[in-house]
Amino acid sequence: MPLVNDADILNRVGNTPLVDLDSLSHDGVKYFAKLEGHNPFGSVKDRAVFWMIKDGEDRGILKKDKSIIIEPTSGNTGIALTGIANVLGYKVEIVIPDKVSNETKDIIRNLGAKVFETSDDLCPKVGAGTDQSIALATSIASSRPDTYYSPNQYANEANFMGHYVGTGPEIWKQTDGKVTHFFTGVGTGGTITGIGTFLKEKNPDVRIIGCQPQQNHLIQGWRNFEESAKPDLFLKRESVVDDWVSIDNDEAFSVVGEVFRKDHLLISPSSAAVYACMKKYSVQDDACVVGIFADDGRKFKSVYAKQNVMTEDEFDSSLKSAKHMSELAY
Ligand SMILES: Cc1ncc(COP(=O)(O)O)c(C=O)c1O
Repeated sequence: MPLVNDADILNRVGNTPLVDLDSLSHDGVKYFAKLEGHNPFGSVKDRAVFWMIKDGEDRGILKKDKSIIIEPTSGNTGIALTGIANVLGYKVEIVIPDKVSNETKDIIRNLGAKVFETSDDLCPKVGAGTDQSIALATSIASSRPDTYYSPNQYANEANFMGHYVGTGPEIWKQTDGKVTHFFTGVGTGGTITGIGTFLKEKNPDVRIIGCQPQQNHLIQGWRNFEESAKPDLFLKRESVVDDWVSIDNDEAFSVVGEVFRKDHLLISPSSAAVYACMKKYSVQDDACVVGIFADDGRKFKSVYAKQNVMTEDEFDSSLKSAKHMSELAY
C-alpha cells in the first residue's frame, strides 16, 4: 500500500544528497552528483510540483474538494503530481505518451491517478497542434474550467522558483560555494534556469551547461530543441546557459554499467546522459563540477533490458547492492 496519507512526506521534498563521483574525480578536479531520487516520490519533479500546487492554492485557483489536477507529462511530473496531490487530497488525471516506461505508468496508476495514453514521442512537444498529450490535456481542462486545474509546468513560474530558492542554494551550500560547472538536461527548463540563475547571482563565473539529447531520443524527461520548441519557462531565461553538450542514446546507455561498477549507483537514463556529458567536457584543474541525477534507475528495468544495458537478472542484483537508493513514499 502506498504511504500517501502522511503529510510529513512533504517535509522530505528537497535537501537531497550531493555525492562524490569517484569514477570521474581526479587530482584537483571534483565531480558530484545531486541525487534527486531522494525526493519522496523519487525525482527532481517533486520540487516543481510541490511549488506549483502551493502556488495554485495560494492564488485560489486550486480548491480543496473541488479541483481536479490535470497535466501532460512524460513521467516524473505525473508521479510527483499524483503522490503530492494524494497527500493534499486532490484528484489527478495524467496524460502520458505511450512510449514512457511501463514501470512509470504503473506507478502513476497505482498512486491513484486516471491515466490517458497518447501516441506521442517520449517528451510532449511544446507548440500548438504538435503534441497529442498537451492537446488532450488542454481540451479536457477547457471543457470544465471551473473544475480542472492544469499547473502547466512549461510556463509556470513556481516551477522555476522551486529550484531558485531550493536546489540552487542547496548546491551552493553543499559545495561551500566552490561549484564551477553545473550540468543538467532540459524538459521544461525549470531546473536549469532556476539553479543557473541562483548560482550566477552568487558567482557570475559559474558555467551553466545544458545537455542536449539526439533527435528521437530515449531519455525520459528531456527534450531536443530541433524536434520540439523551447518551452516558455526556458525561453524567459535561456541566456543563463553558457554552453551545450550533445549526447546520443548509445553514449548515455554505455555509462550505466560503468557507474554501477565504479560508483555503486544504479542510475537512470537521464543521469547517465548527464554523466556522459560531464565526462566528455573539458574543465580546468581545480574545477568543481555538479550534475543533476534527476531520478534513480529503479524504474528502468524494462528499458535497460530492451536496450541491452543489462538483463533483468543483472538489474535485480544491481538493485540489491546499489548505494544511495532512497526510501520512496510509495
Ligand atoms: C528525468 C528528468 N526529468 C526532468 C528533468 C529536468 O526537467 P526540467 O527542465 O523540466 O526542470 C531532468 C533534468 O535533467 C531529468 O533528467
